[in-house]
Amino acid sequence: MTGQYLKYRILSRTKFKVHSPFVYRLYTDIILNNSSHPDFKKIEEQRSILLRQRSLLETTDFGVYSSGNAYKTRFRQVKTITHHSSIRPKDARLLYRLVKVAKAETILEMGTAMGISTMYMAMAAPESKIVTMEGCAVIGEKARGNFNKFKLDNIDMVLGNFNNSLSKTLSKFDRLDFVLIDGNHRKEPTTNYFMSILPKLHAESIVFIDDIHWSKGMLQAWNSIRQHPDVTVSIDLFKAGILLFRKDIAKENHVLKF
Ligand SMILES: C[S@@+](CC[C@H](N)C(=O)[O-])C[C@H]1O[C@@H](n2cnc3c(N)ncnc32)[C@H](O)[C@@H]1O
Repeated sequence: MTGQYLKYRILSRTKFKVHSPFVYRLYTDIILNNSSHPDFKKIEEQRSILLRQRSLLETTDFGVYSSGNAYKTRFRQVKTITHHSSIRPKDARLLYRLVKVAKAETILEMGTAMGISTMYMAMAAPESKIVTMEGCAVIGEKARGNFNKFKLDNIDMVLGNFNNSLSKTLSKFDRLDFVLIDGNHRKEPTTNYFMSILPKLHAESIVFIDDIHWSKGMLQAWNSIRQHPDVTVSIDLFKAGILLFRKDIAKENHVLKF
């Protein structure tokens, strides 16, 4: 995706081009905020431990890797899964800040993997109710071990293919304050997941979609989702995209340097 990144570099703007006061504050105070927190160190130490583990897990492929061969299993090292699946520290810190600014009480995550992003959100909002969804039970079990290590008891895990488990999971929520979509990186499923989640969102909800430039399909999904009339602000940070639903601001699509 070098061409995509080049395009992003050319199109992306700095704070001087952000005219909406709300988006300006969100960008300068939250998105670009570089401050540290002891929680980050704890989680990153755990990531480092996982990145050294050579033990093999028999994993089941879901989403984009299941391509036609549904539920194919293979042995993968913990370190490889952690390296390839987990959110980057920079984006994870942003997730943490956004969950805090959203004052999120209800959080849905699609795609747990080793639970790195889940831990960031759970520590950002320890009083919240978090449901994280994962297809591969063996990977989910490993993530659960991480949650237990930090005594994060505000996380429930739903195992199974999103396609089968999402509607039942959503029925348990009256509303969702924060949603992270980070699994099944394909155009139609991603768009469908967003449409299913939409009725649970409210004016202050935040949706964070990871890997929006990961493939042509993901970019198409992002472009269609951000144009939905209920989305008032979209912010493309290249690696991830943020969606806001506030009614007090005019529709704006931003591409911002991060
Ligand atoms: C990119 S990883 C999630 C990473 C995690 N959010 C983090 O940053 O630490 C995506 C996960 O979603 C799961 N997944 C992908 N498609 C799925 C589907 N259709 N149903 C259930 N799980 C799925 C994969 O098994 C994988 O563990």
